[in-house]
Amino acid sequence: MSRKPLMAGNWKMHKTIAESVDLVKKLAALTGAPADREILVCPPFTALAAAAQAAKGTAVQVGAQNMNDNLQGAFTGEVAPGMVKDAGATHVVIGHSERRQFYGETDALVNKKVRLALEQGLTPILCVGETLAEREAGKTFTVVERHVTEGLKALSAADVARVVIAYEPVWAIGTGKTATPDQAQEVHGFIRRKLEALFGNAAEKVRVLYGGSVKPDNVDALMAQPDIDGGLVGGASLKADDFARIVLFQAVAAPAK
Ligand code: PGA
Repeated sequence: MSRKPLMAGNWKMHKTIAESVDLVKKLAALTGAPADREILVCPPFTALAAAAQAAKGTAVQVGAQNMNDNLQGAFTGEVAPGMVKDAGATHVVIGHSERRQFYGETDALVNKKVRLALEQGLTPILCVGETLAEREAGKTFTVVERHVTEGLKALSAADVARVVIAYEPVWAIGTGKTATPDQAQEVHGFIRRKLEALFGNAAEKVRVLYGGSVKPDNVDALMAQPDIDGGLVGGASLKADDFARIVLFQAVAAPAK
């Protein structure tokens, strides 16, 4: 088992082109080129090409936050997979809870996008996770299982090995409420076992990121968990210093309380 950790910044609807270029440059300077971890930033579409250009020759990789589920056509306002690739993206976030919640993305649509991203040579980051109401109703595992199973439907084991999954409990996103390392590991372990049941050995290759209020002061304990292979970071990825500290995590278990 040797999964290289991936720290991904999800900038959401923040940053102009100039700010994006500046942030990429600062991040690259602060993090250097660590061989034992991967760094990704996901700027808004408008800044994708400029950010990718600024990242050239550095260890910073660039991804999109979404893409359309068609290759081209009459889809006003949408962006095709080939276009994000053309702009320099290597990864694409798919099925983020904000897209599921505000734009009605279903498991079927998410699955179509995951398959299309793989076909187009992009690494999909499939987001899964329960809402607060679902957690309180004891449905966390049912929801996560459905997101994983439906999101990866019709994929081969070889395809799955190229997918990144991000477990993001919706109640922890942007709220400052992080899942505890144990709470997160419980779900990450569950996802790993589900992947094993569905795809066998390929499960060991899939990176499962944790997302939801990851900060410089909680990243080390989260990364000490055996099935947490990185982070999908929103708010704290908007500041070069904070995100660089997160990228340069040192996995250490939190002291027992
Ligand atoms: P947050 O966002 O780090 O601001 O909680 C995470 C995400 O939505 O990907």
